[in-house]
Amino acid sequence: MSARVLVSDDLSPEAVKVLEEAGLEVDVKVGLKPDALEAIIGGYDALAVRSATKVTAKLLERATRLKVIGRAGVGVDNVDLDAATRRGVVVMNTPGGSSVTVAELALAMILGLYRHVPAATASVKAGKWEKKKFQGHELSGKTLGVVGIGNIGSVLVDRAVAMKMRVIAYDPFISPEAAAKLGVTLVELDQLWAEADAISLHVPLTEQTRNLVNAGVLARMKRGALLVNCARGGIVDERALADALASGHLGGAALDVFEKEPPPPDHPLFAVESFVCTPHIGASTEEAQSAVAVAIAEQLAAYLQKGVVKNA
Ligand code: MLT
Repeated sequence: MSARVLVSDDLSPEAVKVLEEAGLEVDVKVGLKPDALEAIIGGYDALAVRSATKVTAKLLERATRLKVIGRAGVGVDNVDLDAATRRGVVVMNTPGGSSVTVAELALAMILGLYRHVPAATASVKAGKWEKKKFQGHELSGKTLGVVGIGNIGSVLVDRAVAMKMRVIAYDPFISPEAAAKLGVTLVELDQLWAEADAISLHVPLTEQTRNLVNAGVLARMKRGALLVNCARGGIVDERALADALASGHLGGAALDVFEKEPPPPDHPLFAVESFVCTPHIGASTEEAQSAVAVAIAEQLAAYLQKGVVKNA
C-alpha cells in the first residue's frame, strides 16, 4: 500500500504533482476546521502545510499513523514541535526557498520608507501635490544594520552592498571571516543600534529575541533611523515603536509581521504616517511559493520512500 499524504493548506499544483509522481496517494483538503482535520488525520502518513493549519498536540494525538509533517515555508510556529517530537513525528521546513523573496521585501520597505512611497501615494490620491514634504534620502552611503545574516539576512546584505550601502551586522552564529566574504562587518548589538541609519531584523522569534527591540533599544537608535521587520511579530515592542515614531525619534518603520495577526484595527501604529505595513506577505511571491511547495513535496517523498531527512 502506498503512503498517504494529506495536503491541508494551499500548495502549488506542481507540488501535488511531485508527490503523485513519487507514487504517493495524495488528498488535498484545504481549509478544514480543526474538528474535521482531527477526524481524518489518523488515515495519513504525512501532512503538508503552509501556515494556516495549526498542528496542535490535540491533532497529533489523533495522528496515529503520521510519520512526517512538511511545512512549505520557514517558520514552524504553527506546529507543536514538542508534541511532534514526543510522538516521533519528523518536522521538516524549507529554509531556503523564500530567502530572496523576503529579502527583496525588506529592501522594498527600506526604499519605500526613504522615499515616502506609501505616504506620497496617499497624498497624491487625496488631491495634494506635496513635493517638499516628501523629500527623501538616498540609500547610497547609508549604514544598514542587519540583525541575523542567515538565509534571508545574507541575501539582503548582498543587495544592500550592491546599492552602495555600508553594511554592519550582528550574528553570533557566523565567523568574522564568513561575514567579511559577504562584505559586512560584524558588530555587537549595542553598536548596531547606535550606528545604523536603517535596521532590518532577520532572526526567528525565540525567548531571546522576544521584545528584542524595546523602548530602551529604540531610544539608543539614531534620530531619524528606520526600522524594518519582515521576520516575526513579537520581536519588536509595537507600542514602544509607535511612541518612538510619534515623537519623531525614528524616521520611519515598516512591519510585515505583527505580534497578533491580523492586528486590531485600532492598533497604535496605524495612526502614524511614517509607519508602513503589509499583511505578512514576506514570502508571498509566485516564485517563492512555487519553490517552497515543490521543495517540501520532494522532501516528503524522499523521507517516505528512503527515510532521508532534508530541510532544503
Ligand atoms: C515563513 O515562515 O515561511 C514566512 O513567514 C511565510 C509564512 O509564514 O507564511
